[in-house]
Amino acid sequence: MVTAYGFAEYGGPETQIYVDVTLPPPGAGQLQVSVRAAGVNPADWKVRAGDRKGTVAVTLPGVLGREVSGVVTAVGAQVTEFRIGDEVFGATASGFGGYTESTLLDAASTAHKPASVSWADAAVLTVSAGTAYDALHDLDLPAGSTLLLLGAGGGVGVSTLALARPRGIEVIGVASEAKKSAVEAAGARWVRSGVGFTDRIAALMPHGVDALFDLVGESTLVDAATLVRAGGPIVSIADPSTAGRLGGGGVNRRRTTAVFAEVAALVATGALDPGVGARYPFTEAGAALAAVEDGHHGGKVVIEFP
Ligand SMILES: NC(=O)c1ccc[n+]([C@@H]2O[C@H](COP(=O)([O-])OP(=O)(O)OC[C@H]3O[C@@H](n4cnc5c(N)ncnc54)[C@H](OP(=O)(O)O)[C@@H]3O)[C@@H](O)[C@H]2O)c1
Repeated sequence: MVTAYGFAEYGGPETQIYVDVTLPPPGAGQLQVSVRAAGVNPADWKVRAGDRKGTVAVTLPGVLGREVSGVVTAVGAQVTEFRIGDEVFGATASGFGGYTESTLLDAASTAHKPASVSWADAAVLTVSAGTAYDALHDLDLPAGSTLLLLGAGGGVGVSTLALARPRGIEVIGVASEAKKSAVEAAGARWVRSGVGFTDRIAALMPHGVDALFDLVGESTLVDAATLVRAGGPIVSIADPSTAGRLGGGGVNRRRTTAVFAEVAALVATGALDPGVGARYPFTEAGAALAAVEDGHHGGKVVIEFP
């Protein structure tokens, strides 16, 4: 049995509980991992709330979390790239969570952790940094392009800022006042979010922007789309269906060992700081998720295990 943090039934934070679960041996293509750190993401509370029924497999009580770093303790059949004792990070296998002392990962969505990358940094690479990497890959903007980034101060936002800079992309980062210094320190131009944000951007960019990457969705996305030059790409991970109605779409998430290894190498060389902003011990997993569910925290939130 391992201790995990999850939810007894679909609903609000009041459904969250610590629970002992039996972890089966890893199946074909899976790894069993002793968890050192778990990334905390908006997707976690959305799964708990029942918003992801049909796309995320959950057996109640469900275990929260989708990504971890840790040490391999067992390998399933057909796994050739990883051995017991390897330090890794990756996405949890279907039906398994990340807020737990031990879990199962899909080997195809796992990469080796470079020695110089911390457990906390590695734990947050698959969802946020991986998404930022995939989005910029999809957009494929030439140097000198302008990219409007909605939600620039959050988990995906900070990685997008860091990855866009070496590509020579000029980012206009929309975020609250509290995120101004972080956005500007990443080399982007900050625009205050909230009522009138499109006017503020139009004053800064009278000829519009080349592309839009949205991490907020709904009316914010719809309003921002008016600032994109004709034919410019619009991608959203917060609200891909609205992006689709605007002529854009979602991000093609690859979640492969090769992509995760590339992202980790960028962290190891100092080219990417995934922006871990808050660390919580496993005993305070509920507080960690509450910080993310609030929706206005900065950077990434991590749960650490002894
Ligand atoms: N499909 C995927 O693979 C995938 C992967 C990762 C994330 N996502 C989704 O993408 C979204 C963002 O994820 P995340 O991890 O970056 O979330 P996050 O860390 O919670 O950050 C969201 C950011 O948006 C800002 N924000 C909220 N309302 C805003 C507004 N009206 N204008 C500008 N900024 C606003 C928030 O802070 P301030 O307002 O305080 O500045 C916050 O910094 C979530 O919906 C998540 O579920 C999807």
